Amino acid sequence: MGESRYVVRSTRFQHQKQQSVVSLCSKLANSWVTTTIFIFIFFILLLGASHCRLDMVAINTSTLQVSSIFSKNINKTTIPKIITKIPLDCTLLNNNMTQTCPSNYPTKFEPAISSSETCPDYFRWIQQDLKVWQETGITRETLERAKPNAHFRLVIKSGRLYVDHYDKAYQTRDVFTIWGILQLLRMYPGQVPDLELLFLCHDRPGIWKKYFRKEDNATWPPPPLFHYCGHRDAYDIVFPDWSFWGWPEVNIKEWNKLSVAIKEGNKKVKWEDRVPYAYWKGNPMVSIARRNFMTCNVSDKYDPMVRLYVQDWKRETRAGFKGSNLEDQCTHRYKIYIEGNAWSVSEKYILACDSMTLLIKPEFYDFFVRSMIPMEHYWPIRPNNCVDLKFAVEWGNNNTDKAQVIGRQGSEYMMKNLEMKYVYDYMLYMLQGYGKLMKLDVTVPENATEVCSETMACPITDGGLIRQCMDDSLVMSPSVKPACDLPQPYGDGELKRFLEKQENAEREVEKWTDEYWEVQSKILQQ
Ligand SMILES: *[C@@H]1O[C@H](CO)[C@@H](O)[C@H](O)[C@H]1NC(C)=O
Ligand SMILES: *[C@@H]1O[C@H](CO)[C@@H](O)[C@H](O)[C@H]1NC(C)=O
Ligand SMILES: *[C@@H]1O[C@H](CO)[C@@H](O)[C@H](O)[C@H]1NC(C)=O
Ligand SMILES: *[C@@H]1O[C@H](CO)[C@@H](O)[C@H](O)[C@H]1NC(C)=O
Ligand SMILES: *[C@@H]1O[C@H](CO)[C@@H](O)[C@H](O)[C@H]1NC(C)=O
Ligand SMILES: *[C@@H]1O[C@H](CO)[C@@H](O)[C@H](O)[C@H]1NC(C)=O
Ligand SMILES: *[C@@H]1O[C@H](CO)[C@@H](O)[C@H](O)[C@H]1NC(C)=O
Repeated sequence: MGESRYVVRSTRFQHQKQQSVVSLCSKLANSWVTTTIFIFIFFILLLGASHCRLDMVAINTSTLQVSSIFSKNINKTTIPKIITKIPLDCTLLNNNMTQTCPSNYPTKFEPAISSSETCPDYFRWIQQDLKVWQETGITRETLERAKPNAHFRLVIKSGRLYVDHYDKAYQTRDVFTIWGILQLLRMYPGQVPDLELLFLCHDRPGIWKKYFRKEDNATWPPPPLFHYCGHRDAYDIVFPDWSFWGWPEVNIKEWNKLSVAIKEGNKKVKWEDRVPYAYWKGNPMVSIARRNFMTCNVSDKYDPMVRLYVQDWKRETRAGFKGSNLEDQCTHRYKIYIEGNAWSVSEKYILACDSMTLLIKPEFYDFFVRSMIPMEHYWPIRPNNCVDLKFAVEWGNNNTDKAQVIGRQGSEYMMKNLEMKYVYDYMLYMLQGYGKLMKLDVTVPENATEVCSETMACPITDGGLIRQCMDDSLVMSPSVKPACDLPQPYGDGELKRFLEKQENAEREVEKWTDEYWEVQSKILQQ
């Protein structure tokens, strides 16, 4: 065992979990006599025994791989590198028998494959979102002004993560947000710089531009606050929402698994065979716009071509969510997206359906939607405009091939550009860009606690959905690929042209719609 340990220690490509068990086993052998806490030893013996045996098998294989890596006469680029596995280590308990964080997570990132793929276009907004601090950087004073809005402070120092909670977030939003960043650290060890950030878990942004003006030295630059969505009148830094790692309260699985399920679900009903109406199901009570929208369901003049349903979460919860499986909701040719109190996590599920999305122009945006183009990825709808919906559905039923293409392109955008790898890449670049702006000594606050996947997941043993979402979304090893190549940020002129392109596409659809309804009203008058 001594020899095997030497081999494992001497390699750059360590099996981290194994190393921890190896050193644990050796510690046990060397120092158990001096250890005074008998209960602790007893516990470790119980757990350790099986791990030591398991470990010898693993070391045998890793010894072989290690020797091949250090053979000098082999062309290095052709050597398959060892993928370091970092499974959850729920055996690390402190004297109080509470879970602690492993000390041996990988700290270096050594991708096995080089990549030359460019990130999706929505990455171009990262610099845009951080631009306001470009000149000044983020000082302690600037950062602390965001604290009254924050649910928690998150500190990353030397690859380890610490959290100081200020306020209770709704459901498990904060839990899965922090979980997501922990998975990012597992995916790209050593790549996330030291930083302190403050996170807002509410629906709506917290840093409104009107309160932070350059002319007023006391409020400039605005405090940086991470949040799930942005608004043209706000400075919040847009970051992926918790639902990518799961929303257990409403039975929404983590995105990796769910996107596959939706993809499979899409095969169940071919587009032509789907119900030729526009479908929406959700909670209308979260905003006035949604309550108004519900009136589109009825008209005494014509068939409104929409099918709207109220999602009763209480009833769904009692019924075990049988009626709200997202992968079973791709049964209509058209699906409507309408934002709620702010952005809605439903957006990606709706767009992924392979149906043409009728997107009621939102005010709030999440991180991926800003690069989507009307008529390429979705059909734009004016707010408070039932007749836009009816026209879109009729147009689609008259132009099924074109409607199908828009539906397919929207889904491809979700399935390709929103792969979890890209979500992590986006987080990585956002945090790297943000980290560069830090003009403060990153310090772990006295009340902060270290958090890792182990401390979050291991204590949850009730067999429930929270743990399941965590297990499903656990990053098991550093990425074999590096992050995608960051595209150039938008130049001012380029951004203007892009926004004009989006707007022109919207204008054109509005023109068709208005012309159609003019003709219709003339017909009705005759
Ligand atoms: C150890 O490696 C040898 C050589 O490849 C192999 O024959 C043997 O089965 C391995 N032992 C274990 C326990 O995996
Ligand atoms: C290793 O192999 C690659 C591709 O097969 C080749 O481009 C490279 O020149 C080789 N490097 C050395 C040091 O032989
Ligand atoms: C164990 O618990 C006690 C009391 O709750 C606490 O004061 C102490 O710091 C804990 N020790 C460790 C190692 O967490
Ligand atoms: C803001 O600061 C600048 C430079 O320090 C100073 O010239 C200006 O008078 C200040 N403005 C206000 C409103 O305090
Ligand atoms: C909307 O209309 C459909 C069928 O036309 C009906 O089943 C549904 O209950 C209506 N929804 C609401 C919220 O009234
Ligand atoms: C769809 O086609 C029908 C029949 O040709 C026509 O009356 C109607 O105006 C068309 N609707 C749209 C929105 O193009
Ligand atoms: C840490 O927590 C204690 C107890 O809740 C509190 O009294 C103290 O002010 C906190 N310290 C900081 C720096 O927030």
